[in-house]
Amino acid sequence: MQFDKPATTNPIDRLNVVGRPVPRVDGELKTTGNARYAYEWHDPQMDYAYGHPVGAAIAKGRIRSIDTEAAKKAPGVLAVVTTLDVGEREKGKYNTATVFGGDKIQHYHQAVAVVVARSFEEARAAGALVKVEYAPEDGAYDLEEAMDGAVKPNGSDKPDTAVGDFERAFADAPVTLDAVYRTPDQSHAMMEPHASIAAWKDDDLTIWTSSQMIDWWRSDLATTLGIDKERVHLMSPFIGGGFGGKLFLRADAVLAAFAAKAAGRPVKVALPRPLVANNTTHRPATVQRIRIGAERDGRITAIGHQSWSGDLPSGQPELAVNQTRLLYAGANRKTAMRLATLDLPEGNSMRAPGEAPGMMALEIAIDEMAEKLQMDPVEFRILNDTQVDPEKPERPFSHRNLIGCLRLGAERFGWQKRGAPATRREDGVLVGVGVAAAFRNNLLMPSGARVRLDGDGMITVETDMTDIGTGSYTIIAQTAAEMMGVDIDRVTVRLGDSRFPVSSGSGGQFGGNSSTSGVYAACVKLRAAVAARLGFNTQDVVFDGGRVRSGDRAVPLSQAAGADGLIGEDTMTWGDLDKTHQQSTFGAHFVEVGVDIVTGETRIRRMLAVCAAGRILNPLTARSQVIGAMTMGAGAALSEELVVDTRRGFFVNHDLAGYEVPVHADIPHQDVIFMDETDPFSSPMKAKGVGELGLCGVAAAIANAIYNATGVRVRDYPITLDKLI
Ligand code: MOS
Repeated sequence: MQFDKPATTNPIDRLNVVGRPVPRVDGELKTTGNARYAYEWHDPQMDYAYGHPVGAAIAKGRIRSIDTEAAKKAPGVLAVVTTLDVGEREKGKYNTATVFGGDKIQHYHQAVAVVVARSFEEARAAGALVKVEYAPEDGAYDLEEAMDGAVKPNGSDKPDTAVGDFERAFADAPVTLDAVYRTPDQSHAMMEPHASIAAWKDDDLTIWTSSQMIDWWRSDLATTLGIDKERVHLMSPFIGGGFGGKLFLRADAVLAAFAAKAAGRPVKVALPRPLVANNTTHRPATVQRIRIGAERDGRITAIGHQSWSGDLPSGQPELAVNQTRLLYAGANRKTAMRLATLDLPEGNSMRAPGEAPGMMALEIAIDEMAEKLQMDPVEFRILNDTQVDPEKPERPFSHRNLIGCLRLGAERFGWQKRGAPATRREDGVLVGVGVAAAFRNNLLMPSGARVRLDGDGMITVETDMTDIGTGSYTIIAQTAAEMMGVDIDRVTVRLGDSRFPVSSGSGGQFGGNSSTSGVYAACVKLRAAVAARLGFNTQDVVFDGGRVRSGDRAVPLSQAAGADGLIGEDTMTWGDLDKTHQQSTFGAHFVEVGVDIVTGETRIRRMLAVCAAGRILNPLTARSQVIGAMTMGAGAALSEELVVDTRRGFFVNHDLAGYEVPVHADIPHQDVIFMDETDPFSSPMKAKGVGELGLCGVAAAIANAIYNATGVRVRDYPITLDKLI
């Protein structure tokens, strides 16, 4: 089914199940420890061995030799597979850096070997005995230094954009801002590290892993192994967080496959936590220059945003200027992205790639402009709202209520009590409040599903969609229950298996809306099959209360299914609505902080997010997404930074002791309000993404609150206490 027109009435709009705060259908499995994560799969028939990955000790160069003699003789060792053994491999479509294979080292902690032993401890001990001789080469590790040589990136959508005459309008503007902001490299730091179990049966590979995108992984794993995709069966039913770090095939899966082949038995491989930050991907650091010019009445006349970031050769820039093209009005505008070559680990997607670091800069700049104009920052944003794409005025937003979010948030938060900077002092603490807009584009991905009605009236949904902790199981069960007119406990949802229809997967906040739309499409097919079997007119057929009705006939679903059941399968695809309408999600973040007068330490006191993201399919799981995102934003503002060793080219603080993410004590109070809206252009679900929206703008709201508290403007994240004193 193709969605290419505004959604009108459909069975979802009844909202008997969809839109309700249904507790997670997988909640009991998770809280009782019965949800099996990748490393926990256990089949008593299988004789598992354990693989320990060895990471490169240099950032760039070649491997001269690898001595595995001592490791092979160590107790319990079954096999050692090195990157030289497997040789250079065709790279997966979605990987920039080589995951495993060949003698070339592109980044620190790149996988160079896997040691397989009877026990985890034996594998780890033997791993330390693998001796690698390198021929190191000089690399570039410092973004500030590499910036001068940064170039317009190849292949990225629009590295430069321009409307009107920015330079002239900026020069003519009576009030201007020209400032540079910096965001650091960040790590996904998901709770469950990357892990896989591989088992071969002849030439067929079964792999349990932790993946956001089943089909991408399956294809790329087959490519890397040099086998037919059909031979790979990949499963990832439960995932302990991904944040973009599990979008693309990773070393644990490749190592497990090679190790299992070599050892002749199933092998478990988990990336040890200290390997995750350098072995996998990260959010690249940015340097962003923002220039804004406005009339004295506050109207923006010129807005310009340049961003510099780095990546390995053939990598991509961080799309930090995305939101500046769409968030505020202004007749004269330009954006530009420049990419430097760096030999650090691969930069890639992390929750709200582009907008998350882009909003960290833009929304401080907007606060600075409001202050120069002596305007309230909420009013300044409202004044510069736009209902159309500022680059293409003939193209409206499908739905946009940024103003509503700002106004409602200001009222609920008590914004009017805000004082001048550094004027509110309580018990040795300077108190301040800050605001930022939230913005993230709404992406759409084709998504398929298969829905079966059995003779007992039970519904089973199968799709290779993943649940990375977001609540996919639950919203998919709600969708099928609504479409088929049954209670949610009549629905079983099976996810994360490459034998199921290919879905959107989880990423880019597209998963919720796209995957439920795929289930919707499959249910439309199933409803038609049921109606056909009963000889019902498809125009007036109603599925409700476990029954199918048409005219004055009503039949229980179980009876309609017949003994062999009925199946509906389809994929939702998307027409070209994005040509006529811009789809984005909006919100407002409000934060209150206290900054210790003596130590400069910032403590968040309360946070409020107001989100406008189309229909909220489940306010309970959506709220969890948003408070998780706000928490991530608190980390981005105050503590998270991968520290680069610019001489040797690696992230120094590559564990959770040194890479500091917020803990409960850092987050005393959070509130989330969803605007009551539907987006008729987004899908038959009328929903949009919300999981990344919740992050975009949070850090800037915190930075702005710190400014309001202290009168000190910090433009380099994270805002650690040394920058305030
Ligand atoms: Mo997201 S960074 O696309 O998982």
